[in-house]
Amino acid sequence: MIRLEDVHLAFGDNTVLDGVSLEVPPACIYALIGPGAAGKSVLFKVVAGLLRPASGKVFVDDEELGPLNEIELARVRKKIGMLFQNYALFDMNVAENIAFPLRRLFDLSEEEIAERVAERLERVALPGTEHRIPQSMSGGQKKRIGVARATIARPPIVLYDEPTAGLDPVTSQKIYDLVQEEQRAQDTTVMVISSDVAGVLTIADRVGMLHEGRLIFDGTTDDAKASTDPAVRQFVHGLTEGPL
Ligand SMILES: Nc1ncnc2c1ncn2[C@@H]1O[C@H](COP(=O)(O)OP(=O)(O)OP(=O)(O)O)[C@@H](O)[C@H]1O
Ligand SMILES: [Mg+2]
Repeated sequence: MIRLEDVHLAFGDNTVLDGVSLEVPPACIYALIGPGAAGKSVLFKVVAGLLRPASGKVFVDDEELGPLNEIELARVRKKIGMLFQNYALFDMNVAENIAFPLRRLFDLSEEEIAERVAERLERVALPGTEHRIPQSMSGGQKKRIGVARATIARPPIVLYDEPTAGLDPVTSQKIYDLVQEEQRAQDTTVMVISSDVAGVLTIADRVGMLHEGRLIFDGTTDDAKASTDPAVRQFVHGLTEGPL
């Protein structure tokens, strides 16, 4: 469903992705972990066609992004729902933020839109907040609005960049459960970046670990927990001793 082949990307002389190859099978939850500045968010933007790699190939739903023009790229992007690490919420009320992908992709009545927005807000435990302005809400509340916006149009692929950052452990687990329930219900293909490694591993089928622009681990969640690679072990088990 998502495939990267030997992807390289640099900003000036800062090499961020240094030959990354990975494959996310359909209907899978793939956790992308790794230390700060490892290139995780950049990798998401490459998958979403927001950044073009210097070399290598990116396939989304069997379509190679490289040769596509902006219009064709926009068509592929419609298959992807994305939660950005920095929220990227618009300066409009909660309901309009969440409804944005629906309005862009479908021709629904105002009543249907309002119903689906209310249903999403219910799901992320923020019922009745339609008229609030995101800028006046907490970090965790903004994350949950982002989750609602990323999923409302039921895209076949969803990328969540730090969906639980700033959330307490109970709300975090609720968000992970929500991510998993929706994935199972719609058979979507999901990638999740999370610094809460223990939390995200409770829902992941597969795990990739990025370190200094390279994928140093790629395998099942059980393999990640059992890995003897010192950096993977240190990161997965949250150890202070190790190479990181
Ligand atoms: N638009 C940009 N212009 C220049 N450098 C960038 C840009 N976006 C990211 N970078 C650099 O790319 C590197 C990887 O950034 P990225 O945001 O992917 O890290 P990350 O793994 O998501 O880290 P974190 O866990 O802190 O979010 C960093 O060194 C960052 O400074
Ligand atoms: Mg990031």
